[in-house]
Amino acid sequence: MKKLYHAEAGHGMPLVLIHGFPLDHTLWHHQLAGLRDVARVIAPDLRGFGKSPEARRAVTMEQHACDVAHLLDRLGLERAVIGGLSMGGYVALAFAELFPERMAGLILCNTRAVADADSAKKTRETVARRALQEGMTALAPILVQPLLSDRTRKAQPGLIGFMEAMIGRQDPAGVAASSRGMAARPDRMGLLHGIKVPSLVVTGSGDRLMAPAESEAMAARLPNAKLVVIPGAGHLSNLEMPEAFNKEVRELLGRIG
Ligand code: MLT
Repeated sequence: MKKLYHAEAGHGMPLVLIHGFPLDHTLWHHQLAGLRDVARVIAPDLRGFGKSPEARRAVTMEQHACDVAHLLDRLGLERAVIGGLSMGGYVALAFAELFPERMAGLILCNTRAVADADSAKKTRETVARRALQEGMTALAPILVQPLLSDRTRKAQPGLIGFMEAMIGRQDPAGVAASSRGMAARPDRMGLLHGIKVPSLVVTGSGDRLMAPAESEAMAARLPNAKLVVIPGAGHLSNLEMPEAFNKEVRELLGRIG
């Protein structure tokens, strides 16, 4: 495996932010710019995405979590706050299971801890095959549809093109590999009770892919969590409502000290 590419900004508490599917580190540009005064913000491109090419037939969430741990090793960091959006949240939970002692705090954005139902697993394989056969430029307009809330589409129409471009430049092989890897992830609801570090569970009231109830269920099980539902945000709450999102992350960092 080549080293994961990452962007970073700032100094202080290491804060690793893991992108969703099929995206890359540029999802976090508002956090790289807006949190640099309170944290060392580290945004990797997961294996097979962005500038971290190299994919296998399938890449599991555990493999992605190990890649993140190797990135921390390379940066000389023992512990970090680990945050992830959607698929990035699946990776953050795998990290919490594999490397609990390395996690100073947890941020779960627009994500869930349950495994895929059988029907969803079949859809993952369909997405993998369509990515390989049709290419990401063709799939981008379809995949971007459910990401942004209706409010964001009206108020910030430029984000539609921004997201289509991000999805369109991803490597179909990397997309297919992580689509298959997501299908293989286990249910991690049972893990949540044991995660004692300060945690933030954040989502958008207009998330059409993952209902806020999924976030409520996770926050209820995490012993030290704050739940935030950002009004009007969709599936990409950090990008759609960056000020509200960054304010909550600042508060979490304050709780960690
Ligand atoms: C994501 O945004 O990462 C995806 O919606 C995750 C998924 O498909 O489960």
